[in-house]
Amino acid sequence: MHLSELFKQLLRKLSQADVYFGQGTVSAEDDVVLLLMAVLVVDFETLNTMAHHPVSKKQQAQAHELMAKRIQLKRPMSYLVGFALFAGLTFAVDERVLIPRSPFAELIDRGFRPYLDMTQVNQVLDLCTGSGCIGLAIAHYYQHSHVDLADISSEALQVAASNTRQLNLSSRCTLIESDLWQNIEGTYDLIVTNPPYVGDDEHADLPVEFSHEPDMALVSPLNGLLLPIKILAAAAQYLNTDGYLFLEVGYSDSSLQSALPEVPFQWLEFNHGGQGICVFNRQDLIKYQPYFKAFIALHVS
Ligand SMILES: C[S@@+](CC[C@H](N)C(=O)[O-])C[C@H]1O[C@@H](n2cnc3c(N)ncnc32)[C@H](O)[C@@H]1O
Repeated sequence: MHLSELFKQLLRKLSQADVYFGQGTVSAEDDVVLLLMAVLVVDFETLNTMAHHPVSKKQQAQAHELMAKRIQLKRPMSYLVGFALFAGLTFAVDERVLIPRSPFAELIDRGFRPYLDMTQVNQVLDLCTGSGCIGLAIAHYYQHSHVDLADISSEALQVAASNTRQLNLSSRCTLIESDLWQNIEGTYDLIVTNPPYVGDDEHADLPVEFSHEPDMALVSPLNGLLLPIKILAAAAQYLNTDGYLFLEVGYSDSSLQSALPEVPFQWLEFNHGGQGICVFNRQDLIKYQPYFKAFIALHVS
């Protein structure tokens, strides 16, 4: 059998199944591509040249076995194959980390323009780093940057450490175990963060696929808003004078805006999908800090 025939078989099976896409892949085609990259042990570009390549019986059996697990267990494909594609790079992932899928990839590609000139950006913090995907992609593409990768989860940091080594970035990246700002000591030209922002109720209603991801990567108290607002409340003291904070809250953007009506959030637009990343400079974080702090004081005893 040729690869193109196997591809069609797998696609047919997955398209008819009751599964959810959205954890690093957005369609059945994407899932089948990841699966075949894993079975044939090739990268995306090579796979694209292999339509007429013969596939052994053993590879066919392996592919169908993985597909059966995807459908029966509703386990996201990236966990089954052990990797995800993000910002043009391959990241090792497993159930210790969220599967990379952030629209930050587009901002990295755009060089965070017009806010920053990445040739002038040296110190970067990726707070809530998970697999390290956002911070490591910045370090990979902007080769004079030094990136601190921080997370509360020592297990997530093990995955981030392995990705750092895999991408040969150990000399410019530092891992920090930290509950938000607790162990952060530096000041930065750029802070990126994709914290948990899903409320408890919404979490319970998510498709089964999300139950394979760590709760602590998704859920934040107060309807998803507490961790993002704690980040906003303290970010100014960790930014250099001309520095910027980029904070992702996904579809919690409107509830964040409603919780803080006095704050004029600037939401970025994306050409390749995704929503809910806002940007702040240091002066505005200082200006609106009383509102962030008042929200926390009101809701946290
Ligand atoms: C939404 S995931 C983002 C992971 C990665 N940055 C990405 O975009 O794929 C959120 C991450 O925040 C971490 N986290 C949760 N609570 C935290 C806290 N209080 N302080 C630091 N990190 C936290 C989780 O362990 C998880 O890795």
